[in-house]
Amino acid sequence: AHQWRGVIREYADRLPVTEATKVITLGEGGTPLVHAQKLSELTGSEVYLKVEGMNPTGSFKDRGMTMAMTAAVEAGAKAVVCASTGNTSASAAAYATAAGLKCAVLVPEGKISMGKLSQAIAHGATLLQVDGNFDNCLDIARKLGEAYPVFLVNSVNPARIQGQKTGAFEVVDSLGDAPDIHVLPVGNAGNISAYWKGYKEYSAPFETANGTLPAVSTKTPIMWGFQAAGAAPFVAGHPITEPDTIATAIRIGNPASWDTAVAARDESGGLIEAVTDEEILAAHRWLSAKEGVFVEPGSAAGVAGLIKKHAAGEVPSGKTIVITVTGHGLKDPQWALRTEDGSDVQPVKVPNDVVTVAAELGLEEN
Ligand code: F0G
Repeated sequence: AHQWRGVIREYADRLPVTEATKVITLGEGGTPLVHAQKLSELTGSEVYLKVEGMNPTGSFKDRGMTMAMTAAVEAGAKAVVCASTGNTSASAAAYATAAGLKCAVLVPEGKISMGKLSQAIAHGATLLQVDGNFDNCLDIARKLGEAYPVFLVNSVNPARIQGQKTGAFEVVDSLGDAPDIHVLPVGNAGNISAYWKGYKEYSAPFETANGTLPAVSTKTPIMWGFQAAGAAPFVAGHPITEPDTIATAIRIGNPASWDTAVAARDESGGLIEAVTDEEILAAHRWLSAKEGVFVEPGSAAGVAGLIKKHAAGEVPSGKTIVITVTGHGLKDPQWALRTEDGSDVQPVKVPNDVVTVAAELGLEEN
């Protein structure tokens, strides 16, 4: 049986690596493309979820981190640094461990989920909580990368985008062609830029060191990005100084990949719009309760966007739509325990007794 070898080895001919490259991998990629039955029924299109929570550290960041850490080792780095809303730090910490490098992560104090915080600590990263937001953390991380002996592994490093473009390759490889619409959450805007790069490369002949590869897809999708309403610089048209949303993963006001995200939107004939925290939480509940897919709130922004566009009559039927759900629900599980009216679900307590348990379940004896 074929064992998935991680995105670098699976797509080596389309990535900036050679046979001599020492690959740092945890077996990332090869994630499920799940047919979303209820979203398909709702829209009359075939809707699929690219479930990126199934990566080794539970988010899509691992696709980029295998490339970034491989590049760090190639450059002879001894230490890496990143700014993060949580997932990048979890991924950097794990891949730095695999590479034998030191890792420092800068996170906004009080604004990252417990799951992500514990991953970075478990993998032995030096974690500093900055008195500021993600954008402030990224400023510091960039300056450290420029003026100090540490290698920056944020998505401003082009190796990250190279790795993340493989998400688009996998979608096309699964479906046999590109979808009509690709939907995803937008924060620092690396991922929308990476998917667009991947879709473009797969739709045209591709030059490699060993010759030209033929086009794999016949088309590219329309890109639909969704931001949290309180952190929606692309909707405002300018950076936001005080971004705020319960979806801490995408609580970002000054996205690093601004120009490439705007290009992805405009070249594809797509859009970047906003969804409210309530819409994000409703989509989060939809995914868990109707599709069987548990994601973290920020990951549900794309689904929230699709549901909102459908309600506005703006989702075409009869199309193929892929939504990247970016991170696992266990990263930030507290939201699952919250009901629609804002109160917390209290598990029912029962005595150690089958008759009472059966009665509580509404079961009558055979
Ligand atoms: N979804 C999740 C779960 C994320 O963690 C992120 C970004 C995004 C979506 C947005 O992707 O930044 O490429 O537009 N998280 C980064 C981090 C910023 O530090 O983990 P993007």
